[in-house]
Amino acid sequence: MGKGETEQSLIEMLDRERIPVHLAVIMDGNGRWAEKRGLPRAAGHRAGAEALRELVHFCAELGVKYITAYAFSTENWKRPRAEVDQLMALLVEYLYRELDEMDQQDVCFRAIGNPEDLPPEARQALADAVQRTRGNSGIVVNLALNYGGRRELVEAMRRLGAEIKAGRLEPADIVENTVQSHLYTAGIPDPDLLIRPAGEHRISNFMLWQAAYTEFWMTPVLWPDFGRVHLAQALLDFQRRERRYGGLNV
Ligand code: IPE
Ligand code: IPE
Ligand code: MG
Repeated sequence: MGKGETEQSLIEMLDRERIPVHLAVIMDGNGRWAEKRGLPRAAGHRAGAEALRELVHFCAELGVKYITAYAFSTENWKRPRAEVDQLMALLVEYLYRELDEMDQQDVCFRAIGNPEDLPPEARQALADAVQRTRGNSGIVVNLALNYGGRRELVEAMRRLGAEIKAGRLEPADIVENTVQSHLYTAGIPDPDLLIRPAGEHRISNFMLWQAAYTEFWMTPVLWPDFGRVHLAQALLDFQRRERRYGGLNV
């Protein structure tokens, strides 16, 4: 069986009634992908952006409603300045290059994290993409940029504290939904499936609250090599799992 056939047969095996509503992905392994080829790390990030493009198209076809893609963490500022600059430049390039096509395909771009701390050009490109696609009703692509799960929780706590101080909220009235509604992902269902490529088995500060009952799928495949066949494998695996949420599903 050729590669195309394997991919096609996997896709045909998918239960279209049980496609995850929200898919989250930690786009990791770009650097290793480039190093393996003797290329600069930036080439890996470029190839990684291409993989995201493919993922968005395939997910839209399958009926996934939300993708959250971890593109830059609050810890990624620790990298050499040159790499951070390249990542930001690539973001701008990606957004402007993809915008027309994504807009035509009804994709709605959003950002989660603290994009206000990004360099001005990146902020602008992001604001343009969000503004231009805000009325679209197709797949929502949340770009997690300068995102940190702990920072998200700290900010939520600060806002809750301010509301208490202002007399608008009683501590005893804080329930799970109150916290949820103060996160960057307010109004978005928790991810059903989280994909972590590149052989890493950790959460790296991603969606700490939201991932309470998310199914994890890990693969040694490096993010730039992650294609339709891998997504089909992940989804098939996901569809075979029993989600119990602490219950017994009897
Ligand atoms: C993910 O790839 C991209 C970002 C974190 C921005 P990496 O750059 O972390 O790639 P590796 O882990 O070094 O291979
Ligand atoms: C996670 O990857 C962040 C993104 C993919 C944006 P990292 O490469 O930063 O994660 P660690 O450092 O290996 O945990
Ligand atoms: Mg990495």
